[in-house]
Amino acid sequence: MLEIRNLRVHFYTRPVPAVDGIDLTVPDGEIVGLVGESGSGKTVTATAAAGLLDRGACEVSGRILLNGEDLLTLPARRLTALRGRAVGMVFQDPAAALDPLMRAGKQAGEALALHTKLPKSERKAAVLQAFRDVELPDPERVYNAYPRELSGGMQQRVMIASALVSSPSLLLLDEPTTALDVTVQAEILALLKRLNAEKGISMLLISHDLNVVRHVAKRVAVMQGGKLVETGETEALFRAPRQDYTKRLIAAAPKPFGGAAGVRMRGDAGSE
Ligand SMILES: Nc1ncnc2c1ncn2[C@@H]1O[C@H](COP(=O)(O)OP(=O)(O)OP(=O)(O)O)[C@@H](O)[C@H]1O
Ligand SMILES: [Mg+2]
Repeated sequence: MLEIRNLRVHFYTRPVPAVDGIDLTVPDGEIVGLVGESGSGKTVTATAAAGLLDRGACEVSGRILLNGEDLLTLPARRLTALRGRAVGMVFQDPAAALDPLMRAGKQAGEALALHTKLPKSERKAAVLQAFRDVELPDPERVYNAYPRELSGGMQQRVMIASALVSSPSLLLLDEPTTALDVTVQAEILALLKRLNAEKGISMLLISHDLNVVRHVAKRVAVMQGGKLVETGETEALFRAPRQDYTKRLIAAAPKPFGGAAGVRMRGDAGSE
């Protein structure tokens, strides 16, 4: 379980805090959406929750409890271990996140190479299993492929697999589908839903697009100017948003995948 308590992050170079006293919980087994306009503090929040904040560049206060341990006060060694195992992070642009010169399989196995003593053969087996878990076709071929040989959707599946190899209990997903086209976006969201349902992995899913979280997240938190302005059960929030800001976000969101009735996503229960 991730419990963020009164988190405040103030970069020394900025006049105002990027994150200004937020409380956010991601219960075990749940997907929580975090939405808000550009610059509202979503990525800074996720970076903090991943234990990746550059502490030399900002003043941080509050608590970030991951299964009860406060990432902000943990000794460096313990933090590194947690980062590699308990929590995985997936970013917006897989092409930028992947090393173009390293084969996909080797990249996906890096966390295991760094954080475990598993022999190479077992690391490879774990990576191939993760590739199957994210429904990559022909895992052996993908294992030996360079990123440029894979489509954007496949690259993002490799990134998700890289986060999954260490069997984390929590995934932090920062705009994981924004760089992908609409059909691929729906497939990746369906995959996340399935991973959550089948493996019980909890997720913090960040998007500036409310439609992305609508079909996937049970609860949504709305962020503006470093603060949480509204939090609630997803459908209730869409039906009856309380804050003007949330209303504007909903009004500004494009129609979900080209149809007002929502989208049938592959992997949705009973949709096929
Ligand atoms: N390393 C940094 N140093 C200084 N300021 C930063 C740093 N990272 C983020 N900020 C500032 O903190 C604020 C919040 O940024 P953040 O990246 O969290 O926004 P966001 O909600 O993720 O936006 P987007 O939807 O564009 O990704 C912004 O004003 C940004 O300029
Ligand atoms: Mg961001």
